This record gives sequence, structure tokens and C-alpha cells, in this order.
Amino acid sequence: MDILLERKSVRKYTKDEVKEEDLNYILKAAMSAPTARNTRCFSFIVVKDKETHKKIAQIHRAAQMVLEAPAAVLIVGDADIVFENYLPQDCGAAAQNMLLAATAKGYGSVWCGIYGNEGRMSEFSKLFELPENIKPFALVVIGKSADNNPPKNGWQPEKIKYEKWG
Ligand SMILES: Cc1cc2nc3c(=O)[nH]c(=O)nc-3n(C[C@H](O)[C@H](O)[C@H](O)COP(=O)(O)O)c2cc1C
Repeated sequence: MDILLERKSVRKYTKDEVKEEDLNYILKAAMSAPTARNTRCFSFIVVKDKETHKKIAQIHRAAQMVLEAPAAVLIVGDADIVFENYLPQDCGAAAQNMLLAATAKGYGSVWCGIYGNEGRMSEFSKLFELPENIKPFALVVIGKSADNNPPKNGWQPEKIKYEKWG
């Protein structure tokens, strides 16, 4: 359970690679996420090519950390097979599983948002030559952490209400 509290967004990485077996574990964790009606509408594009990382940095100003990272994974969702409007929930669950699996394997990672930003979605669709039904959801950047900051303390008891809002 500790990995849940240890996870944090990491935006600085060492030069170490992400091992193939660890990347596969992270992808398996992503694919083990729940999806509405079990449509499993997500797919994953592993991106290690530095030229592509540079192009990503040009189209996503909050994803500059990809320039230093050994690997990134673009999570996409298939709008043709998803149940109702659950594409962002399905892909979001996969994204969170990836972050936790990366933490469990000793990597730092960060979720870079794409879905919901029309301009960004269009740029990523072009860059990765996605067909119309395949929607770019998020880029998860992964590498060995070079960030010693502790995770944020997420505990806010005032966020909890019992039985009703009031
Ligand atoms: C939907 C979503 C989009 C995000 N987009 C970005 C992003 O584009 N770039 C980035 O550096 N972090 C991004 N983050 C990470 C948040 O900034 C981060 O989770 C938040 O500041 C809390 O910090 P923590 O993850 O270390 O707990 C995103 C997170 C979510 C859930």
C-alpha cells in the first residue's frame, strides 16, 4: 500500500533506461485497470525516440520533461468501442495504474494531460497519425527519478463529509 502514498509527479530523470521487463509490467498494470462494460478501449504507444520527444515538447508546453526522459507512453482510447462517454474514465484509470506501477518498480513518472484540450488532441493525433476514432488521452513520462523532494501530503480530512454535503 505504501506506493499509493509514495507516488509523486517526477519531472527530472537520470540517464538510466526503463528496463523492458519493467515497462511491460507498467503496461500490464495499465491494461488491468477497470473499464466500463469491460470494453478495454485503451491502447498504448511507447515512445523512446528522442526526435519524437522533441516534437512532443514543441506541441505540449507542460511536457518539457520528456526531453530528458528515457521513455514515454501515449495512452489513447478508441471512441468506436468505448461504452457511452466513459473514454476519459477508462483511460484515466489506466493512467493512474501506470503511475503506481512505475512507483512500485522504482521509477518516477508524470501524467501529462491531453484529453479535453482540443488543440493538443489535434496536434497529438497528427504527430502519431491516429485515425479519427483513436483519441489521444495522456502522455505518461517515465524514468529513474532525479528528484529528491518528498511526495505531497494528500491527507485533507476536511474533504470528507458523512452521509450528506451539509
Ligand atoms: C489530468 C492531469 C493532467 C496533468 N497534466 C500535467 C502536465 O501536462 N504536465 C505536468 O508536469 N504535470 C501534469 N499533471 C500532474 C499534476 O500537476 C500533479 O499530479 C499535481 O500537481 C499533484 O502533484 P503530485 O502528482 O506530485 O501529487 C497532470 C495531472 C493530471 C491528473
